[in-house]
Amino acid sequence: MSVFPKDFLWGGATAANQCEGAYDEDGKGLSVQDVLPKGIFGPITDEPTEDNLKLVGNDFYHRYEEDIKLLAEMGFKVFRMSIAWTRIFPTGEEEAPNEAGLAFYDRVFDTCRTHNIEPLVTLSHYESPLHLSKKYDGWMNRKLIDLFAKYAETVFKRYKDKVKYWVTFNEVNVTSHIPLLGGGVFTPRDQLTKQDMYQAAHHQLVASGLVTKIAKTINPEFQVGCMVASAPRYPMTCHPDDVTYAMEEQQELTLFVHVHAKGEYPYYTKRLFDRDNIKLDITEEDKQNLKHTVDFISFSYYNSKTVAKDPSKYELAQGNLYRGLRNPYLTYSEWNYPIDPQGLRYILNFYYERYELPMFVSENGMGAIDEPIEEDGKLIINDDYRIEFHKGHLKEVGHAIEDGVNVIGYTSWGCIDLVSAASAQMEKRYGFVYVDRDKDGNGTLERYPKKSFYWYKSVIESNGDILFKTEE
Ligand code: BG6
Repeated sequence: MSVFPKDFLWGGATAANQCEGAYDEDGKGLSVQDVLPKGIFGPITDEPTEDNLKLVGNDFYHRYEEDIKLLAEMGFKVFRMSIAWTRIFPTGEEEAPNEAGLAFYDRVFDTCRTHNIEPLVTLSHYESPLHLSKKYDGWMNRKLIDLFAKYAETVFKRYKDKVKYWVTFNEVNVTSHIPLLGGGVFTPRDQLTKQDMYQAAHHQLVASGLVTKIAKTINPEFQVGCMVASAPRYPMTCHPDDVTYAMEEQQELTLFVHVHAKGEYPYYTKRLFDRDNIKLDITEEDKQNLKHTVDFISFSYYNSKTVAKDPSKYELAQGNLYRGLRNPYLTYSEWNYPIDPQGLRYILNFYYERYELPMFVSENGMGAIDEPIEEDGKLIINDDYRIEFHKGHLKEVGHAIEDGVNVIGYTSWGCIDLVSAASAQMEKRYGFVYVDRDKDGNGTLERYPKKSFYWYKSVIESNGDILFKTEE
C-alpha cells in the first residue's frame, strides 16, 4: 500500500513575477520586481531596465497553455501560481479592476481545469504594486490592509468556482527581515528598526486574517492557507547556550505559523519583542481579524539553518534567503545551500505536533546550473542531481506521513525554469522543464522536458511508490 494518501496533491509551484513576463501588457501596472534588475540586494532603478530578466520571465503570459499541458503530462494534480496584484489593480488604488488582467487568469484557470489540475493561488508573492510601495512605504502603512482586502475580494468573487486553494502571503515571515521583498517597504533596510519591520509584518498578518474571513463568506468551500519560509534552526553544538539560541530563533519563525493557526500571537512573543524593543501598534480590530485562522499550513523548505550563540568561530554557509553556519554533516549545492532532506521530515513534525492542521509543502527545490546537450535540434538535460534532491526530500515527506503527519500536498519550486527571486538569475534553475533562455536573456524560450520531468512523472504515476523501491 502506498505511503502517500490516494488524493495526495502532487505538483509544482511558480510565481507571477518570476515567470509571466509581459510586465506592461494589457494594462498591468509596475510591481517592485520590475525595478529590481539584480534581485533583492541590488539597486532599485527609476524605471524598468532591459537587464531585468523578470520583464520577460519565462514568457508564461504567452505560453501558459503549452506550459500547463506539460505539467499535465507529468500528471500534476495541483499547480501553485500567484496572481500579480498589479494585473488586477495596476497601482493598487483603482476603483475598478482591470478586466484584461482578470480575463488572463480566467484563461489560466480554465486551462488548468481542462487538464484536471487544481490551481493553488498565492495572492501576494513578492510583487507589491510599486505605486503603493512609493506612496505608502508598502506594508509599513496599515492602509494596505484594506487595499489588499479589496484586491482579494475581487479575485475571490471572480474565481469562486475555478479556484479552491488559496495562500495569502508567500513566505510571510520574510517582511520582518527583507522588508522590500516581503512587504514592498521602500525605505532602505538600514534605515528601518526591527519595530518598523515587525509592524509591516503585523499588517500583513492582519490582512491575512481579514481576507481569510472574506474568502469564507464568498465560498465556504475555499481552503485558505498561510505560507512561511521554514528553515528549521539547528544548534551548532549541544552546548545549552547554542540550544537555547536555536530555540529563540525558531520561535521567531514559528510565531508566524502560530498566529495563522491559533489566531493570536504566541506566549513567547512578549519576551522576543521586549528583547528587541518592539512595541507593536495592535488595535482591537486587528485582534478580531487575526482570529480568522487558516485551513492548512503551507511552507517552503530549501534547507535547515545551523546557528550558534557565538557564530564567530564557525564558517558561514548560504541558504535560501538566510545565511547560517556550515553544518559539517551536510553536503552543499552550487549556491552553497545545505542539502538536508531529513530537515523536511523534522519541520513537518515540528509544526504538526503543535497545530495539527493539514500540512502542505508548497516549495522545495535546489537551484542548479543545467548543461544541455544538443541532439537532433533538441536540448537534452540529464539532471540526475535534481532527481537525487527531490527523491531524498520526497522520501522524507513519506516518512513524515508514516510518522502520522497529515501532509496533503507537495509542489516543487520552479517546476518550469524561471528567474530566481534573490539574485534575479536565469541560470539558477529549479525546473523539470528547461527554458531556453540564458543568463543574459538570450534564447528561443522554447521548452524541453529534462530527465527529471520523466522521473517526476513516474513518481506521480506510482503515487510515490517508486521512491521506496530499492536501487538496482
Ligand atoms: C523562495 C521564494 O524564497 O525561494 C521563491 O518563495 C524563490 O520566490 C525561491 O524563487 C528560490 O529562491 P531563489 O532566490 O533561488 O529564486
